[in-house]
This record gives sequence, structure tokens and C-alpha cells, in this order.
Amino acid sequence: MTAETVDSNLSTLRFWAQPRQVHLDTFKWLRENHPVSWSGPPEALDPNLDNARGFWSVTKHAHIREVSRNTDVFSSADGVFIDDFPQLESMLSFIVSDPPRHTSFRNIISVAFTPKHVRKVEEDTRRTVREVLDHAAPLGEGDLCELIAKEVPGRVFATFFGITDRDQIQYVMDAAEQMGAWSDPEYAHIGSPLQVFADASQKLGVLALDLAKERQKNPTEDLMSWVSQAQYEGQKMTVEEVGVFFALLAGAANDTTRHSFAHLLALFQQHPDQLAYVMADFDARADDAINEVLRFDPPLMHFRRTAMADYELAGETIKAGDKVVLWYLSGNRDADVFRDADTFDVSRTAKENPHQAFGGGGAHYCLGSHLGKQMLKAEMWEVYTRMKDLRVGERDIMLSNFMNGVMKLPGTWTPEKS
Ligand code: HEM
Repeated sequence: MTAETVDSNLSTLRFWAQPRQVHLDTFKWLRENHPVSWSGPPEALDPNLDNARGFWSVTKHAHIREVSRNTDVFSSADGVFIDDFPQLESMLSFIVSDPPRHTSFRNIISVAFTPKHVRKVEEDTRRTVREVLDHAAPLGEGDLCELIAKEVPGRVFATFFGITDRDQIQYVMDAAEQMGAWSDPEYAHIGSPLQVFADASQKLGVLALDLAKERQKNPTEDLMSWVSQAQYEGQKMTVEEVGVFFALLAGAANDTTRHSFAHLLALFQQHPDQLAYVMADFDARADDAINEVLRFDPPLMHFRRTAMADYELAGETIKAGDKVVLWYLSGNRDADVFRDADTFDVSRTAKENPHQAFGGGGAHYCLGSHLGKQMLKAEMWEVYTRMKDLRVGERDIMLSNFMNGVMKLPGTWTPEKS
């Protein structure tokens, strides 16, 4: 490998169509030889995208941390993906904004995440996971993505927003999946990647606006009502902002958790000894195990910033206006931070595992990290106590430079007797 071949690789769709191990090997080479490097404009996922600018790749854990925490220089307002994708970003609400606007928006939403509300959500989550397994466990075989990994966050999210109608829940889950998989050939029948995305966001937007209007008039005990009522320094969200927030969460909460659980199942299939170790003392070991799954296979491979001033990083001069891509997939394998970084090892303690699956820290750090881990833990317990002799097949990995996604995951197990 040379700096030139590697850097230009990252811009091509062909590179991202290769097995994940090729990407990991490339990032390892970059961390060791060229930790901050420049690539030309990314090959557009859709001919309608105007990807005129190249981008910097930040591959070391410490540099990802440094950029993430410096919102004075590194802005999110100009977009958070390698590709210039304004249609997508208009749906991302406060993710695509900087302090102080970002701070007041995030504070309004945080008001809705009080300990009382979070406790209620946690109880709902455990009940939902049990119900999902009541359906899946007696079947004995099936696609574990459809049956469990997609189903749990979809239902938790729907409960969050007080949606009880089964068809509406399915509708939200399908639209959220479509939103995250805009670049996968699975959805090519709908049209170009942009059309796939626009179609999904339209579906979510219409539903969200109706729900938000209804909850502002008649608040109940759900997140949509709390967010609609929440105030920070006298400010409330408009009904349109609540609607956009709904679509943002549909993507942020559903896809990330869904893909993480699929990776969890595949990783424990490969490491039965480590599964036995966790299950032998689940309460004491599950949290560390879930963090290791998130380190090893983070569902989001990057987020992007844009430099607002010239900045020196690892001997390179990033110019004002340049795109800067933070590769969490790479930071999570940095040998300067993680011992045996390429080894899956659930015995790493929280202190030994400062992974970047939820971002590099700072203003945009994942708002749902606690809830995401909570869902994964509840799923892990139910699956491995109820689906005996579970055998998991190969992951069908999504074609994307953003989402480390699993489209399908076949499984067989001894059916649970009802
Ligand atoms: C395994 C599950 C999850 C992973 C790996 C994940 C990962 C991430 C990452 C990498 C970011 C960007 C951080 C940055 O730019 O510095 C983020 C932001 C965000 N996440 Fe998550 N997420 C997960 C689950 C969730 C859930 C369940 C929710 C919903 C409650 C959620 C809501 C959000 C929101 C609202 C933001 C934007 C925060 C901001 O810009 O201030 N996430 N997440």
C-alpha cells in the first residue's frame, strides 16, 4: 500500500463493496503511516449528488477525540456525512447544527429524558423484548434481523412515541430501515439512493407531524408528549421541529441498535467460550461485553465535520472549509489505546475500553447511548436464555460507507415450547 492508493481508495464505491476486513486493514495502515490523510471527492452514491469536495480522514483515537470536542473549529452545520447530502441532512434536526443553537435544542430534549421518564422507558423495553421473543423463540429458524434485531428497537421506539397500532409500528420500522439503507441495492427498485431516502423521510415526516399535532393538543405519557411540552429557557419546539426530531430518532435509534444486535449475535457465534463466560455471571459481565461488541463492530463507521479555520493535526494543515471525516471504525482498533486491538475480548473493563461507537465525546455525543445499551442487554439475556442451541449464519453486510449494517442474518435454534 502507498498513501496515494489508500487515500484514493476511500473515495470509491468499489472500495466500500469489499469485505470489511479490507477496510480494517486499510485503516490500520493509515493509522500507522498516514493518520490524517486527504482523499479526492467521494464517488457519488447518486448521480444527482454534487460531491465536488475531497475530505480528510482522521483515523487515530486521540485525533477523533480532539476534533469531536472542538466545536469552535469543527462544525456540524455543513453536514455530517462524507457525501454532500443536503436532502438527508435537512432531516437530521440538531445533529446538523453547532452551539449555541445545538445546545438549546439538545437541552430541550434532555428535559424529556428525566430519570423518571428513563425508568419508564426501561421497564417498557424489558417488556417489549419479552414479547418479541414470545413470537420468535417458538419458531426454530428465521432471519434474526427481521425477527429480533429490527423488531425490538422498532417497537421500543414506537412505544416511546405512544404508537400502539401494529400496522403503524411496522410502517415506522420499515421506513426507518429504508432511511438507513439508502445506498443498498435491496432498495434499488424504489429508485436512486436519493429517491429511496426521500421516500422514507416523507413517510416518517407525514406520520410524525400528525402525531406531534395530536400530542400537543392531548398530551399523554409518552416521549412525543414530553418533548412537545418540554421547555428550556422559555423555549418550546414547534410542531414541525418535533416532527423532524421524530424522524431523526427513527434513524438514530432504530438502525444503530438493530445492526449492533446483529453483530452481537454473529460475534458470539464465533466466540462461544466468551458467551459462556458472560452468561455465567450476566449481571456482572454483560455491560462490558456489550461495550466490546460496540468497539469491535460499531454500527456507524463515520461522522463528518467541516473546519471553520485552518488547523494543524498530525503534521497536516486542514484548511478552513475542508471536510473532516472521523472514522470511529478505525479509532476503535487503535493499538495505542486498546491492547490486542484486533481481538474480540469481552473481559475488557469499561476503563480499558473507551470505544468511540457513540462518537469521540463533546457536544454531539450520542443522546441515546444508555437506552441503546439497555436494549442490547435485554435482548442478549432473552435470546441466550430462551433460544437454545442457537446457530447463527453469515452476516449479509450492507453496501455503505457510513453504516456498518447487517441486512440479513439467518439462524436456527431449538423451538421454545409454549
Ligand atoms: C448502539 C446504539 C447507538 C449507537 C452506536 C449510536 C451512535 C451515535 C453516534 C456515533 C452519534 C454521533 C456522535 C458525534 O457526532 O459525536 C450519535 C448521535 C446521536 N444519537 Fe445515537 N447511537 C445509538 C443509539 C441511539 C438511540 C437508541 C438514540 C435515541 C434515543 C440515539 C440518539 C442519538 C441522537 C439524538 C444523536 C445526536 C446527538 C447530538 O447531535 O447532539 N442514539 N449516536
